Amino acid sequence: MAKLRRVLGLFELTLVGIGIILGAGIYVLIGKAAGIAGNAVWLSFFLAAVVAAFTGLSYAELSCMFPKAGAEYVYTRASFGKKIAWFTGWILIFAAIIAGSTVALGFAGYLNALVKTPIALTAVFVILAVSAINFWGIKQSVTLAIIFSIIESLGLLMIIIIGLPYFGSVDYFEVNSLPSVFSAAALIFFAFIGFEEMVRLSEETKGTKKIMPKALLLAIIISTVIYVLVSISAISVIGADKLAQSNSPLADVMGSALGKESSFVLSIVALFATFNTVLLVLLSASRIAYGMAAEGSLPRLLANVNYKTRTPGFSIAIVGLISVAFIFLGGIETVGYLTDFLIFIAFVIVNLTVIKLRYTKPKMKREFKVPISIGKFPVLPLLGVITSAILLMSITFEIALYGIALLLAGLVFYWVYFKKF
Ligand code: ALA
Repeated sequence: MAKLRRVLGLFELTLVGIGIILGAGIYVLIGKAAGIAGNAVWLSFFLAAVVAAFTGLSYAELSCMFPKAGAEYVYTRASFGKKIAWFTGWILIFAAIIAGSTVALGFAGYLNALVKTPIALTAVFVILAVSAINFWGIKQSVTLAIIFSIIESLGLLMIIIIGLPYFGSVDYFEVNSLPSVFSAAALIFFAFIGFEEMVRLSEETKGTKKIMPKALLLAIIISTVIYVLVSISAISVIGADKLAQSNSPLADVMGSALGKESSFVLSIVALFATFNTVLLVLLSASRIAYGMAAEGSLPRLLANVNYKTRTPGFSIAIVGLISVAFIFLGGIETVGYLTDFLIFIAFVIVNLTVIKLRYTKPKMKREFKVPISIGKFPVLPLLGVITSAILLMSITFEIALYGIALLLAGLVFYWVYFKKF
């Protein structure tokens, strides 16, 4: 069988990683996070980055053991069996679907600031448009992805540069409360989601063993530096309160520093960034659903591939419809938190998988092994479990209830579909 070509080096892989990570989170949720944490919102970015780094290392080890596109589904099946693997798949499908709703609302916020379009309705249209594109078959070339990433990064660079003269104008340690910094970190974690996608490229990376962990950490570190600087800049220019009230926070930062007309430029960049993210997350949700259905773990219909477009039309339609429904759950903060809630659960499972496999498959070849163990016990994945759980618990009870309802819906679905537990 043909093998994938190993063409990616450290530079390319890191760049692709940053491209996947940077996106709507920083353009959209920074305002809400500033409203929660206050001026110290940059600290929340830092905390979120630490959690991402621990979990990133776990992904690096697992991706070397099982270099498969099914990623989490494959890892958890090998460690905890089919049921947990199924639930992890269920969780990840919903996380991606709800991320789509979040970012679509972000797009709508920026468009509203430009042309006063109704927010919820715009978000619905974005999801429908994206689903249509995904259905017609999308061949997003690496070149296009890199161009998008460069535009997104330039937008952020602009914010950092225009904020420089304002640096030092506020007290950066002014916090609403310590728990609020954690709570904002739990929300802003959204901005780091995507690093885990990098491991799907392990079969296309030269010398994955050395490159993948380095690229993962580098991508997380570089995004962190960008995020921390952008948040310091934004806070310095307009302050946490104004950021919090805005539907187009970074455009307001630009408008405030350079005059109202200039905010137009940033709004356009944000529209690109958010549209691109909705497209990618909904694409990924439809493909996980398709993959599970093809294995008989979800209704077969979801694995149907359209004869003409060669895309899983039914999966795309269902994913789109559910994403539209979540637009109306209660605003961007709610769906952003809910996405992260589900992702944290998945990350706890992934970190536990590393720990379990060290005992159950000690001999299996690991091209990369997370460093620091006590006996067989790996320390950093445990920190991954603990830190993910801390952010998980920083999420309000109301959001947790929605999350638990989704998990219960999964149980019911499993029971009805497989007629057993
Ligand atoms: N990290 C991605 C974003 O912020 C999901 O858009």
